[in-house]
Amino acid sequence: MKKITTHGLMIIQIEIIFLCTCLVVHQASANQGLQDEIFLAQGWDHKTRQKLSYTSFGSRFIPYTWFIALEQPETRELFRDNRHMASLGFITAQADEYNPDGLPVGLVRDSDKKNGDYIGLTCAACHTGQVSIQGKRIRIDGGQSLIDFTEFEHAVLAALKATVADPEKFSRFFEMINTSEGIKTEIVKGQLQQRIVELERHYAINKTDVPYGKGRLDAFGQIFNAIAVEALHIPENTRAPDAPTSYPVLWDASHLNVVQWNASAPNKEPGPLFQNAITALAVFGTVSVPQDKRTYESSIRISNLGSIQREFYQLVAPQWPTELAGALDAKKIAAGKLLYNQHCVQCHNYVDPADKKRKLTAVITPLVDVGTDPLMNDNFKNHTVKSGVLEGRSLMIFAGDKIPAETNPLDLVTHTAAGALFNQPWQTFKAIVKEYQSNNPAPKNAAPGYKARPINGIWASAPYLHNGSVPTIYDLLLPASERPVTFYVGNIELDVVKVGLAPNQTPLTTFFDTRLRGNSNAGHEYGTQLNDEQRWELVEYIKSL
Ligand code: HEC
Ligand code: HEC
Repeated sequence: MKKITTHGLMIIQIEIIFLCTCLVVHQASANQGLQDEIFLAQGWDHKTRQKLSYTSFGSRFIPYTWFIALEQPETRELFRDNRHMASLGFITAQADEYNPDGLPVGLVRDSDKKNGDYIGLTCAACHTGQVSIQGKRIRIDGGQSLIDFTEFEHAVLAALKATVADPEKFSRFFEMINTSEGIKTEIVKGQLQQRIVELERHYAINKTDVPYGKGRLDAFGQIFNAIAVEALHIPENTRAPDAPTSYPVLWDASHLNVVQWNASAPNKEPGPLFQNAITALAVFGTVSVPQDKRTYESSIRISNLGSIQREFYQLVAPQWPTELAGALDAKKIAAGKLLYNQHCVQCHNYVDPADKKRKLTAVITPLVDVGTDPLMNDNFKNHTVKSGVLEGRSLMIFAGDKIPAETNPLDLVTHTAAGALFNQPWQTFKAIVKEYQSNNPAPKNAAPGYKARPINGIWASAPYLHNGSVPTIYDLLLPASERPVTFYVGNIELDVVKVGLAPNQTPLTTFFDTRLRGNSNAGHEYGTQLNDEQRWELVEYIKSL
């Protein structure tokens, strides 16, 4: 194992940067520019929405001034130009006091006096949706984002390379970033080159055959590699993060007993804090794991994570916008409700959004029953890696089992997140860690399955299933053999009839092929024996949830 030794400490730097596979830069269409956006009543006022869109949890991708100055590789247009960012699937936004540089939703400035300011992502980048009805954009707070993560990262790398290679580009870049006096061009070039090398190495580790495309990311696969391969410097721990999942919707998620598509995370406090800390490490967070320290210094901003979490607790599902999307048919809804009670409610519970402290139970459905694509579950379960320097340390730093020489990467991730949390001045955490342990349903040993959560507001977050393999609700109610085999993702136009995203190709879409590994649209054969009239009744009812 390779160790980097600095002043007797082994410094482990984790910077997860997601890989780009075969990706093409799309041209943004004109209607993706800035224009009035509609917001639905989902429990957040405008101030809360803006705060959440631009509060950093400690994600540090590249220096902030670089991102502001960076041009697109082939042109003099800025990388952060709205049309370009929209082509990568970001939701563009206007400048205001929370967002002085007019960055898209979820792209944030992480300010740090010691190490400088960085650009990073926050939760809103992946957990904010947008649909369009007749050209009107509707923001979906906590909805599924359509960003193409790997393409974004690949595009940043290409732009950095072009900046180094093209002297004119570089001199414009240097002019813009050179705010403090005395910085030499060679130093900046060296820093750019170093970052390019780091990104390329990271891409190689996370290479996959099947592209993620718009709206998906293998979050678990990537964080496993970040810790088990990059942080611990154990190349043989590498495993392709090849089971991307849809960015799940976050309304009601804080009220569920378990989260993640495979129900692998208990959600009782401090569960959400753990999840969020892991996310922060996964999305360009940094952490050092010294050999002689029990807790780990990191870029995670715990108090911001806490306030983000509190706001997500208040979030409710969006209601079908009848003024734009058309009135609902009361007769069909009544018939659809009966069908729902017969075929769906045993797994997808009802939600009372007026109950602010609602407790919701997800129904974990064994893989053998639901029959959807197993790859995400397989990768998560059947996976052991070498523990390296973490061998023998306690799972939860101050409590828990000793980590064996080989283990599930989730243990290493959990341990590192715990070490990062304990490093912060937050004394009460120690006390509740034992409780967390006793709540943990040991997902490693449970039967594999996917979770069925309440589906209120689901009209606004296509495509469906954990791997995003079904474009509309109507298609999901067809037998799997009759569902679309291929379609396009990234067109935000709402299909108000079949309910979902219009699956046709536009300059902004990526191709989805259900025949590829991990992309199967099989399974979930519930309600699929209904006749067509009944299907439309059920679709109408689901619009009303
Ligand atoms: C880079 C994209 C990205 C960012 C940023 C991100 N998430 Fe996620 N999140 C995901 C993906 C992908 C999943 C699905 C993981 C899985 O189960 O495979 C997920 C899952 C979740 C879930 C589980 C939901 C459920 O119903 O199962 C919660 C809760 C969540 N994220 C909250 C957050 C919070 C809070 C933040 C900010 C601290 C955040 N996420 C930042 C991509 C992201
Ligand atoms: C036996 C349990 C079960 C029944 C019954 C069931 N579902 Fe599901 N449902 C699931 C599971 C599990 C998932 C997640 C599967 C996956 O993502 O691979 C799911 C996912 C979904 C999704 C996608 C959610 C998303 O965020 O993408 C929709 C929509 C849905 N179900 C609708 C229905 C409807 C409508 C019915 C009744 C006709 C129904 N389900 C019956 C278990 C069930």
